[in-house]
Amino acid sequence: MTPVSRRAQEIQPFLVMDVVARAKELEAQGHCIVRLEIGDPDFPTPDVITRAAETAMQDGSTHYTQSLGLPDLRDAIRDHYSAVYGVTIDPEDIVVTQGTSPAMLLLFGALLDPGDEVIMPDPCYPAYPNYVRFLGGVPKLVRTRAKDGFRYREDELRAAIGPRTKAIMVTSPSNPTGAVLSVEDLQMLADIAEETGVHIASDEIYHGLTFCGEEHSILQYTDRAFVLNGFSKAYAMTGWRLGYLIAPREFVRPAEKIQQNFFLAANAFVQQAGVVALTEAQPDVARMRALYDERRRYLVPALREIGLKIECEPCGAFYVFADASDWGRDSLALSRRLLEEAQVACAPGIDFGQGGEGFLRFSYATSLEQLHEGVARLARWARMNA
Ligand SMILES: Cc1ncc(COP(=O)(O)O)c(C=O)c1O
Repeated sequence: MTPVSRRAQEIQPFLVMDVVARAKELEAQGHCIVRLEIGDPDFPTPDVITRAAETAMQDGSTHYTQSLGLPDLRDAIRDHYSAVYGVTIDPEDIVVTQGTSPAMLLLFGALLDPGDEVIMPDPCYPAYPNYVRFLGGVPKLVRTRAKDGFRYREDELRAAIGPRTKAIMVTSPSNPTGAVLSVEDLQMLADIAEETGVHIASDEIYHGLTFCGEEHSILQYTDRAFVLNGFSKAYAMTGWRLGYLIAPREFVRPAEKIQQNFFLAANAFVQQAGVVALTEAQPDVARMRALYDERRRYLVPALREIGLKIECEPCGAFYVFADASDWGRDSLALSRRLLEEAQVACAPGIDFGQGGEGFLRFSYATSLEQLHEGVARLARWARMNA
């Protein structure tokens, strides 16, 4: 038999997708599962966005666009970054993609030669190390801890930088932890970038979903940065597939060439809808953010009450990352038991790296009623098992 490529063999499965598959199987058998595993907003995409896509389709926006993306959308992204963060971006430095995920391929594809290293926090979003390995790079994981608010420690971060380090990855608000970096954290990263010449790769996909304090982009602190962003989360557009990369000028043409070959362009009518999302859907984003915040303020104390430890208060995204080691140290085995025995689906912390072992990630991209039911089931399970 012809062997599967080593590159494909080495990609790790996204364990939460296995939880999704089993939850769906149980549902098909008639079980009622409380679904707290996946980071997909339960809100419908705001009407104003859907209507814009319908109009764009009717008007014939159904063909290829420029690989870099529609000028109107790139202008709208520039205006958005200017209005929210006060930064000046040239639309020439923006590449529109079919989601933040393809933007990662453009970023790492344009940046890495085989053997080059990207520093990333452990725990982190699991696609980062997989993308880097797939492209021949080396993910260098730096442990972050709940007691530090899941921030890098400066001495550990500096110690991890070597001659092959090309970038330091940050995600704020974070998946899986919900942690938000402070101005001081971002300034520290910017200082390191300026001193060492490495770039900061900032995944800003959960921007718009910060509940405490102001939101900051890495671009306020340094130009030695790539920004990944997209419409999936704040605009409830996961199925639309729209995102973008903001890159230092010398990386734009290389990223464009990758896009031309691998993806051609993002969907035309979805890009048109993206313009309307940025310019007209901010009240919808605010409404959804307020509802997420209400859920967060219920869920964090409720999980603590039933025995889970949450040392780092989540301040953004829609996740609670709770230390469940008193219920079981093996997070994958524990999440499987909770699904089968309590009929609650959640993500095992190990999915996000060794630093996540012992934790469970609960998504509150679901209704308050479901959260109440989930907590009640977990409480019952804990009384009987823990
Ligand atoms: C941190 C982070 N980045 C990127 C993505 C992927 O987003 P997109 O739907 O834009 O590809 C996700 C999805 O969960 C995420 O959590």
